[in-house]
Amino acid sequence: MTVTGRGIDRARIAEINEREEADYRGRTAKSAKLFERAREAMPLGVASSFQAYDPYPLFMTDARGSRITDADGNEYIDFDMAFGVLAAGHSHPILAEALQHRVANGTCYTFPVEDGIALAEEIKARFAADYVRFSNSGTEATMDAIRVARGYTGREKIVKFEGGYHGHHDDVLVSIQPPREVMGPIESPTTVPASAGIPRSRIAETVIAPFNEPELLAGILEANDREIAAIIIEPAQFNIGVVPPKPGFLERVRELADEHGIVLIFDEVKTGVVLAWGGAYEYFGVKPDLFCLAKSVGGGIPIGAFGGRAEVMRSIESLEGTPAFSADAGVAGIERSTLPGTAARVAHLGTFNGNPLSMTAGLVTLTQILVKDAYPRLQAMADRLTAGCADVLAEYALPGYAINVGPKGCVMFTPERVTNYRDFIGLDAELWTASFFYLANRGILLPPGPDDQWTLSVQHTDAEIERHVAVFREFAAEVTG
Ligand SMILES: Cc1ncc(COP(=O)(O)O)c(C=O)c1O
Repeated sequence: MTVTGRGIDRARIAEINEREEADYRGRTAKSAKLFERAREAMPLGVASSFQAYDPYPLFMTDARGSRITDADGNEYIDFDMAFGVLAAGHSHPILAEALQHRVANGTCYTFPVEDGIALAEEIKARFAADYVRFSNSGTEATMDAIRVARGYTGREKIVKFEGGYHGHHDDVLVSIQPPREVMGPIESPTTVPASAGIPRSRIAETVIAPFNEPELLAGILEANDREIAAIIIEPAQFNIGVVPPKPGFLERVRELADEHGIVLIFDEVKTGVVLAWGGAYEYFGVKPDLFCLAKSVGGGIPIGAFGGRAEVMRSIESLEGTPAFSADAGVAGIERSTLPGTAARVAHLGTFNGNPLSMTAGLVTLTQILVKDAYPRLQAMADRLTAGCADVLAEYALPGYAINVGPKGCVMFTPERVTNYRDFIGLDAELWTASFFYLANRGILLPPGPDDQWTLSVQHTDAEIERHVAVFREFAAEVTG
């Protein structure tokens, strides 16, 4: 539901922000102290820059089910769920028991294990895939899938959508949230590095397209004819709040990939085994050539995976018979893929790939916790949370709308529907910040940024959803009051 705000008092929001930040500091003195110490040991005081936020992040000590506890003993209903890792919830009892056995019997062999076969078979069934390979993170999964696509096609460029995040390797760490002044025209967005240290040569291989604009994508592919190895896409963009695909968009992307002989990669790191049993593939009914998984697959243990069509995945065994070796492959691609000494297959490697801890975690999570029956309830709880927040926004005429896709959702603090990154820039960051601290101070923990969203788990309850809505109502009343 789109609501046009009747104008909110900026001074009031600033006042609430100031008060809530002071409360936050008052409740979390131990986190503040740990942060001071952490800053002496780690840049920004955190292990991943995503964990840093002002004034300082909460340091956590315990979590179980849907609850998480910080260093000062404050308990929160966790709606962040580790950036969407925990559709199974924290330390699900079934998983905890299975992992105790695993930890006591070796966690890394670098020899294959039977659980790895069973997990690959389970993923094959869910995603109608021919082959699966494992890695340790979403970053590795997208990096590996892109290399497979390049090896298979013999081409070097990839297309990535503006506002999409696919991990922290150079090829895709571009145009994530580019500044407005440098993002270029929407017909041909500029490739903008999201980090220092990314070589120009890498940027030249990543072409940017706007999400939800199929005809602009068609023009971009035409302009790079026979040079694009892969289109990598999050089927719903979950790194700029929640931005679903417009009806027909994914279908058109699929068609365009086929027309141009491009490998279509779905980045299902956030969507896979969360939106539905068969992830975005099942939810939206469009099938990619390759898909990438991570996060919720491991139930809280690090894991990554990618898989898909036999013909493409077999590039890991041999490139014989692939477009890379056929006469009509991309001209540039053929020359490059046959550089002297180039192996006639794609390397996919990793010491921890398929380790017994991750394999058992994935297998138990998918076959005993995130089973088919779990999804209708997750969807129902999410719809209820969204409807509750939408009612509050309407009641208080706050400029924003509530949205979910499957068990992932958020309040987008902007009156107009966001269809791609360029709309997202208009989000009311100050209002978002006020809501984050207001809710956190009352035991409702959301991800610490407007680009992320809540994720529900099988261990959340209806009462917790009601509590979330009730606190959001108090916030709306204060902001408008
Ligand atoms: C869609 C998507 N792809 C890839 C990644 C990278 O995953 P990881 O952080 O496990 O490397 C993320 C992480 O948030 C993500 O949201």
